[in-house]
Amino acid sequence: RKELTIGLFGFGCVGYGLFEVLHKTPGLKTTIKKICVRQEGKPRPIPAENFTLNKHDILDDPEINVVVELIDDADAAFEIVSEALKKGKAVVSANKKMIAEHFEELLELQRKYNSPLLYEAACCASIPIIRNLEEYYDTDLLTSVEGIVNGSCNYILTKIFADNLGYDIALAQAQAQGYAESNPSLDTGGSDAKYKLLLLIAHAFGLVLNPDDIFTLGIDRIGNTELQYAREKGYKIKLVAQAIKNPDNTIGFFVIPKFVGPESKLYTVDDVFNGVITHTSFAETQFFVGKGAGAYPTASAVLSDLSALTYDYRYEYKKLHQTEPPVPGGDTLLHV
Ligand code: HSE
Repeated sequence: RKELTIGLFGFGCVGYGLFEVLHKTPGLKTTIKKICVRQEGKPRPIPAENFTLNKHDILDDPEINVVVELIDDADAAFEIVSEALKKGKAVVSANKKMIAEHFEELLELQRKYNSPLLYEAACCASIPIIRNLEEYYDTDLLTSVEGIVNGSCNYILTKIFADNLGYDIALAQAQAQGYAESNPSLDTGGSDAKYKLLLLIAHAFGLVLNPDDIFTLGIDRIGNTELQYAREKGYKIKLVAQAIKNPDNTIGFFVIPKFVGPESKLYTVDDVFNGVITHTSFAETQFFVGKGAGAYPTASAVLSDLSALTYDYRYEYKKLHQTEPPVPGGDTLLHV
């Protein structure tokens, strides 16, 4: 197995989580050689000589063979990741916005420079859903992927329903636990789920969408009427991201808050958990569940990508461009 010498970008919730998780994982031959951060002089639990403010200390270091990108600025992340791929370094990223916005360009860079990019942590944190979709399903067998893919929204909705908390307090708790994005309207407005759905659709059906093509409503659109209706009927409300393959080979897709009854597997997915249901012709229904945000669960996905790089794993994108173009809109109503 390959030895990994890592240059890490970002030392926030997930970056520090990764640092700890790596230290608790015996057997993986990995060293973090340098950590690039934005802010100088911030108190940090490891010595200052491990840090740099200059990205070239990592990107120009030939000994560093893996770049792990865990910053939240999607534009800066794209620059870093492209430069690393061009230099032949393997890259692991958790940045769903950056990957969703530049999917085709990143594919091209991977092909041209023969450098792998892995991003299991970008979608549903601890659930190895990208790897499963990539490896197990042939496009004609998989008929739909639906799920709860944002931990913060699910946490907020659970607190509202189970503990009767107000929306603002529940959101503040999701932020305090490190679940929310630095700009939490990316969670509550549905964009985070939209980027994740784009990744799921690319790996499930081989269709690369523009993020703006995905109809998206966030949980910030839920009012008292919907909450009261759900309570009266015994439903929960979940932010659901869904893609369905139509008989004519087109795909319908959307992110919307849905009323979910006890007959649905998603009804059982509460708190910061995510859940993804796949429907296939032969395996029928499969249900993946796990923590969808937070330092350790997200770091565990980065760790699994690092482990995969030690045996030269890469996504093969076998299903790309095998599906018809999208049906705009899809089913856009909040419904049962
Ligand atoms: N803000 C994201 C969420 C983090 O709550 O799901 C994990 O992608």
